[in-house]
Amino acid sequence: MADLGARRARPGRGDRLTGEHPAAVRPLSVADLGCGSGRTVAAVLAAVDALPPAGAGETDSLVVHAVDQVSGLDESLLTDRRVRSRTADLDAPLPLEDACLDAALSLNVLEHLADPVGHLVDVHRTLVPGGVLVLAHSDWDTALFTSTDDSLTRDLVDVFVAAGAGTQHAGAGRRSGAERSDGFSGRKLLSHAAASARRGAPWVVDDVASWADAHRRFDDGSIAWKVATGVLSTAGGDRELAARASGWMEGLRSLAADGQFLFTVTDVAVVLRKGSAPAPQG
Ligand SMILES: C[S@@+](CC[C@H](N)C(=O)[O-])C[C@H]1O[C@@H](n2cnc3c(N)ncnc32)[C@H](O)[C@@H]1O
Repeated sequence: MADLGARRARPGRGDRLTGEHPAAVRPLSVADLGCGSGRTVAAVLAAVDALPPAGAGETDSLVVHAVDQVSGLDESLLTDRRVRSRTADLDAPLPLEDACLDAALSLNVLEHLADPVGHLVDVHRTLVPGGVLVLAHSDWDTALFTSTDDSLTRDLVDVFVAAGAGTQHAGAGRRSGAERSDGFSGRKLLSHAAASARRGAPWVVDDVASWADAHRRFDDGSIAWKVATGVLSTAGGDRELAARASGWMEGLRSLAADGQFLFTVTDVAVVLRKGSAPAPQG
């Protein structure tokens, strides 16, 4: 009995691991917040599958929570036993326990939320100490289209960005998440993280990256076509601009057919880490 008591008083290696490095001994738990059809979920699974085999059953222990307000996950992901599809409103507390996630990802979602900082505070709650949030967003104000009328394109992008950022605060009724947008979201990620700290959820900024992918296609369904369609639809509220823009899409399509078209938008990604709890004093 005395022996057993002595062992209990002195933590062994296993106890140290579970206490100080919970991620090392518990299943790896990841959430994709605002997952849409699951492109990022698929990327996480592919990255894990590409790892060299490590401990037995390591990839079996991976759980990816695919969270969205609507269930739109691709069928192949719904049938993957590592994926948990969860329907939830990201403007409300996540249906996840405190400190249950090793990592969270959020791509092009913050602009749709009524309180993006409140969402970051709640994500902080769900991460283990040392867990990371990879927070990424396109910055629509930087949208670049090669066109034959630069001045018109500038005006169209300005109206597109103003329509998202402006009406959100216009008091003309609360916009739904699908309609709400903020064309400056990419450049605001660090200030959102700082605001989260002021609300009791501090982050360590591990990394900041920014890039712009080049898109040269303009066929229906391509990224450039989708963004241009959104841009043109906001111009509909301005009769004069809409009239000037009547042949804009056809112009882009024709440039693409001639190999002269380019669309880019700047993406920003920050890696935010939840700091470890300070060591107890004394
Ligand atoms: C632009 S899509 C991005 C999807 C995905 N992250 C990607 O990059 O492919 C935004 C996603 O956020 C989701 N979303 C928007 N507002 C939400 C809310 N309040 N609660 C939960 N999901 C929301 C939408 O349903 C949509 O799937």
